[in-house]
Amino acid sequence: MGSKSKIIVTGGTGYIGSHTAVELQLAGHSVVLIDNFCNSRPEVADAIERTTGIRPELVQLDLCDAAETTELFQAVKPDAVIHFAALKAVGESVEQPLAYYRNNIGSTLSVAEACIASGTRNMVFSSSCAVYGDPDTLPIAENSPDHRAKSPYARTKQICEAILKDLSCTGALSCISLRYFNPVGAHSGGHIGEQATGSVNNLFPLITQTAIGKRGGLTLFGTDYDTPDGTCIRDYIHVVDVAQAHVKAMDHLFASKSCLYDVFNIGTGQGFSVLEILNAFHATTGIEVTSVIGPRRPGDTVAVYADNSKALHELGWSPKYGLTEMIRSAWAWEQILQQREQTAQTT
Ligand code: UD1
Repeated sequence: MGSKSKIIVTGGTGYIGSHTAVELQLAGHSVVLIDNFCNSRPEVADAIERTTGIRPELVQLDLCDAAETTELFQAVKPDAVIHFAALKAVGESVEQPLAYYRNNIGSTLSVAEACIASGTRNMVFSSSCAVYGDPDTLPIAENSPDHRAKSPYARTKQICEAILKDLSCTGALSCISLRYFNPVGAHSGGHIGEQATGSVNNLFPLITQTAIGKRGGLTLFGTDYDTPDGTCIRDYIHVVDVAQAHVKAMDHLFASKSCLYDVFNIGTGQGFSVLEILNAFHATTGIEVTSVIGPRRPGDTVAVYADNSKALHELGWSPKYGLTEMIRSAWAWEQILQQREQTAQTT
């Protein structure tokens, strides 16, 4: 197996899901996207088709409905599933933990059950560097001791990883969890990018929305952290690099004869503070984004960046894009969104 496989992509019209669908199609796989559109739009399937020339199949489904999920998997009979669908706002998860536990863990249980019922052996799970909490050492490696999650969002990722690991021990499922650091930017084709329909919480879209005038300014969530400039440090990674890691992880699963469970960090290995990102945005675009100092955000980690050597050596993956390209593509995408809105208003 490896080429022309059929892959179910849950959360397939979301930010990372849509970019991964494109990379899977470009690698010769066919994709069936599942989404409940709680934070994305069905039109993203058209945008994927415009990017690759291939129409993805799209199914609207709430994965918390276990019976319907199993029915779909039995009908599609995929060779593998990539499970992205999840709620992902750290701050919101602190306020609404139950919604996060029900949705993120419930959907993962449904998908796992559906895999077993349909004989789908291979799964790539969308995990997060949030599982590391506040790391004791940096860069953080996959085999570092377990950490306390700093938010219900992070805990859902730890719990789902544990569930999938237990399942792989039974020989029913082979799974790779990819722990992404901070995916940003957009595909160069200009059709897909970050396009949340719900509230926007992540730094990059908040910067580009401020730069384009949709927002008055940016709040720095704490400038009194124990870091060189007092703001938090993250490992930002281009979303296309993240998407390509999934194709490599799929190939790794397909090549393995026995069931496995493994985890890989997907980051660049370089950390940048919030202020460094604002300065890099200024240097790249010429636009100075105004910011005010605000309180710390509950659930935030002080500093985290990846030791990505395991993915480099074992998956044969490596990130291709640097910070300038991440910023350029994020800014280009924001301008495309504005043009679209202006066109929609005048027609
Ligand atoms: C977190 C997870 C990440 C996950 C993502 C999903 C950690 C370490 N990372 O990213 O794995 O994929 O959620 O959403 O938990 N900031 C501001 N002002 C703002 C917005 C953000 O100062 O208005 C700061 C934050 O405090 C943080 C940085 O910018 O230091 C990045 O924040 P964000 O883009 O929201 O991502 P994380 O919370 O790091």
